[in-house]
Amino acid sequence: MSVLTAGLSRDEALKLLKTYNSDPFHLRHGLTVSAVMEWMAGDLGRADEAEFWALVGLLHDVDFEQWPEEHCVKAAELLGDAGCTPEFIHAVACHGWGMTGTDARPEAEMEKVLFACDELTGLIGAAALMRPSKSTRDMELKSLKKKFKDRKFAAGCSRDTIAQGAELLGWELDALLEKTLKAMQESEDAIEAAVAANT
Ligand SMILES: [Fe+2]
Repeated sequence: MSVLTAGLSRDEALKLLKTYNSDPFHLRHGLTVSAVMEWMAGDLGRADEAEFWALVGLLHDVDFEQWPEEHCVKAAELLGDAGCTPEFIHAVACHGWGMTGTDARPEAEMEKVLFACDELTGLIGAAALMRPSKSTRDMELKSLKKKFKDRKFAAGCSRDTIAQGAELLGWELDALLEKTLKAMQESEDAIEAAVAANT
């Protein structure tokens, strides 16, 4: 059994996400990052922590729609009020390290994975929309690498943050791209089902 506890159930986390987010784009992002984090936990031999990783992914941007100026700081307050544990709050807050007002820095492997994958899932999602299939399933790594290098494409997805995330993890950038693409491909059905049920 995992030693990590979030302090709330998946249903409660979803309810909290929807309390503070109504934009389908934000809901899709939370559900996508949640699925990717859950996949990563399994892939990295942390299956016992998969629920925690998934819930951190789900709620990592809980404050962003309503309090973009206080991103990660407001989240800590909202999550504290909702009964989340200090380790859960730290995991959420530290994904804004160096970019928001939070002092929390990614330390645990899970925190580094979130930091590295957050923007990257946006890039992969935008690249999928450009394809005739509108899917990640037939996307090859070399095509993703091209999109990564083309900084005008999905310019809002910070390449610097993604590269910094790979460095924090001690992974080659290509390994991060490959793993996250695989996570999105293998989770695509689950993500679409969750999006359909919650938006
Ligand atoms: Fe995010």
